[in-house]
Amino acid sequence: MDKIIIHGGKRLSGSLPISGAKNAALTLLPCALLTDEPLTLRNLPRLADIDGFQHLLNQFGVSTSIAGSRPEDFGRVMTLAATRITSTVAPYELVRKMRASILVLGPMLARMGEATVSLPGGCAIGNRPIDLHLKALEAFGARIELASGYVRAIAPDGGLPGGRYSFPVVSVGATENALMAAVLASGKSTLHNAAREPEIVDLCNLLVAMGAEIQGIGTSDLIIHGVPRLHGATYRVMSDRIEAGSYACAAAITGGDVFLKDAVIEEMEATVQALRDAGVHVEPRAGGIYVAADGPLRAVTLSTAPYPGFATDMQAQLMALLCRAEGASVLTETIFENRYMHVPELNRMGAHIETKGRTAIVHGVPRLTGADVMATDLRASMSLVIAGLAAEGETSVHRLYHLDRGYERLEEKLALIGADIERVGGD
Ligand code: EPZ
Repeated sequence: MDKIIIHGGKRLSGSLPISGAKNAALTLLPCALLTDEPLTLRNLPRLADIDGFQHLLNQFGVSTSIAGSRPEDFGRVMTLAATRITSTVAPYELVRKMRASILVLGPMLARMGEATVSLPGGCAIGNRPIDLHLKALEAFGARIELASGYVRAIAPDGGLPGGRYSFPVVSVGATENALMAAVLASGKSTLHNAAREPEIVDLCNLLVAMGAEIQGIGTSDLIIHGVPRLHGATYRVMSDRIEAGSYACAAAITGGDVFLKDAVIEEMEATVQALRDAGVHVEPRAGGIYVAADGPLRAVTLSTAPYPGFATDMQAQLMALLCRAEGASVLTETIFENRYMHVPELNRMGAHIETKGRTAIVHGVPRLTGADVMATDLRASMSLVIAGLAAEGETSVHRLYHLDRGYERLEEKLALIGADIERVGGD
């Protein structure tokens, strides 16, 4: 297996392009199921998860084509056409590799009146149930059956009537599945305490571009008036606010500066506030965000929360940065029950982090030292890269398949701003 070798201590400086958002793309791709007309998505990131989702859609009979893009380009243009759907089953061997596959449940149910999806298992960061997805679809009129590790959703008389559901817990994926089911319902649907992440707004904007009628976009109360059919569209995937925040931490931990091209500051205000509280300069500029860490880093206390709160997907990366701050930071992870897998690995690099339940106390240390470290999940692996960029000596990050799920050509982007980093095969 590949690994990444970093020789740390170099001050990073320069400009790097931010790719399309993984977590937007993974909910825009299944929208192709909602129409028999072509859907073209631009600015799709080149990621393992996107390839996996494309393969899953191909299993249903969806044709996909990638527009010509030069190897050096970041991002791709993909046209999808669900002219005829030949299967409504998402099989275990595909779903187990990518839990976001559950996002075909709502659109497949809406289009075909039925859908069968293997239950996604848990993952490293938590058991991640899908009960809220199912409760929302039931509220919209679906019949749900669970058997042999699969969930089967059926619409009465082949179509959903629509309905009303109030989420007891904010859930990004459940909001997305419910939205994609409601747009073709015969009546009106309402969602309360819906997720408000920018990726949800991106989904709503695409659905409206396809002819859906949605009110309250960007708020936690969504009203969807079902329409008989949706048409094709061409749509640009939003920029990845988590990738942007990750590279901001990478430059900052080296005392460097970076221009994050295509990053949108309005979509990452909690991350920007945390960086500023840590003593990092963050400034919106035409076409992106400029980040510079030219002074000492300060300790920060915060809790993760649903948008617009501090994103759980940024917790591991900020923690790596705070390892070099003066003083003790206190981070509380309120979304997932096991999202501190990066802590033991950071401590092996000389960090001093204590965890007590969902709270981590990050005692700043004067230096980090390079080590062989193991990635355990996507964002944990990025926190190890960030630490390695500041660590003295050589850091090797193993199990890169975690990283490749969410960061497009990471080592090329970091090399653009001066990192001494290379990917080597064999392990
Ligand atoms: C999405 O996951 C993201 N993934 C995650 O990003 C992100 O961490 C998460 O939202 C929170 O922002 C994609 O968009 C593909 P949730 P999702 O449903 O939808 C509980 C990354 O690193 N819950 O908002 O699965 C759940 O256990 C990934 O890019 C239920 O109890 O997250 C969690 O505690 C990791 N029942 C909380 O809600 C349900 O039916 C939030 O989960 C659904 C969720």
